[in-house]
Amino acid sequence: MFDSKKILLIGPYGQVGWELWHSTQPLGKVIIAGRGANQQLQAQINLADPDSIRRVIREIKPSIVLNAAAYTKVDKAEQESELVYRINAIAPGVLAEECLRLKALLIHYSTDYVFDGNHTNPYTEIDTVNPLGVYGTSKLTGEQAIIDIGGQYLILRTAWVYGRRGQNFLLTMQRLAAEREELKIVADQIGAPTWSRMIAQATSHIIAQIYSPFYQLDIKSLSGIYHLTNAGQTNWYEFAKAIIAQSKKQPRLLPITTADYPTPAKRPAYSVLSNAKLSDLFGIKLPAWDQALALALR
Ligand SMILES: NC(=O)c1ccc[n+]([C@@H]2O[C@H](COP(=O)([O-])OP(=O)(O)OC[C@H]3O[C@@H](n4cnc5c(N)ncnc54)[C@H](OP(=O)(O)O)[C@@H]3O)[C@@H](O)[C@H]2O)c1
Repeated sequence: MFDSKKILLIGPYGQVGWELWHSTQPLGKVIIAGRGANQQLQAQINLADPDSIRRVIREIKPSIVLNAAAYTKVDKAEQESELVYRINAIAPGVLAEECLRLKALLIHYSTDYVFDGNHTNPYTEIDTVNPLGVYGTSKLTGEQAIIDIGGQYLILRTAWVYGRRGQNFLLTMQRLAAEREELKIVADQIGAPTWSRMIAQATSHIIAQIYSPFYQLDIKSLSGIYHLTNAGQTNWYEFAKAIIAQSKKQPRLLPITTADYPTPAKRPAYSVLSNAKLSDLFGIKLPAWDQALALALR
């Protein structure tokens, strides 16, 4: 039988965090931590404050820490680099140090924006990184901080996350579809839209395998970076088309280029991630992005 774990989940109100909160329930006692006044939070962690991280982890002594919190506003990050680094680059190292002290497993999420987008075939975990903006650079520094500590960790790089709550492309398109007659959408950035629920379910599946007495897996040797996205690839315009096709009101969609829609942060033109390592080591393969979207819309 699976030995029930004490799981500390940081960021339970984000897109991925919310789904993790639910999908990890069967795995053990889930304690939720974050910042702010939400009554349901069981511990206060502000990732910009390393003392709050140390205090809570030393008090709770979890066997697994799931960090679903991050500074995720890619454009705003360009103006707030100091805060972004504290949350995305320094905090993951502090989490890793505290997990090492407890011999706990740290599961942390990272991003396709660690790549510059010059590839034309899916990026693997060993491909050269070269982030284009503050957000991607901060997330990459956070990855490296975890790796340098050398404990038990999984860094799950995902991409183009959407879900039924939070701020994301799916909900934005649904809102704009109701408000506008015409939408111009970038068609020259290619990636894999990924449903937050599937990220969480895959994470829970990984945890269940790691701690299953049947598999006897060696966590230390499995520690590393893994790519975790829905399969296939598309562009924002085609993604919007698939969303709008299921909307009550259907505005006209016009494809535009990145150059037509300048943003403060540069984004990779191509950031499809190969999920082969996850499939080889954990037997996990997420469905194609359009199948996942159909399920999410249902
Ligand atoms: N969204 C994407 O498209 C995408 C793509 C690739 C990778 N990722 C990665 O996937 C992970 C999850 O992303 P997501 O889309 O679920 O994020 P999200 O919906 O933006 O949620 C982020 C969460 O982090 C919390 N947070 C922010 N600053 C914090 C701080 N200083 N202390 C404590 N909590 C803080 C936020 O809480 P508040 O409500 O208090 O702000 C929020 O609940 C992140 O590591 C992200 O980098 C996301």
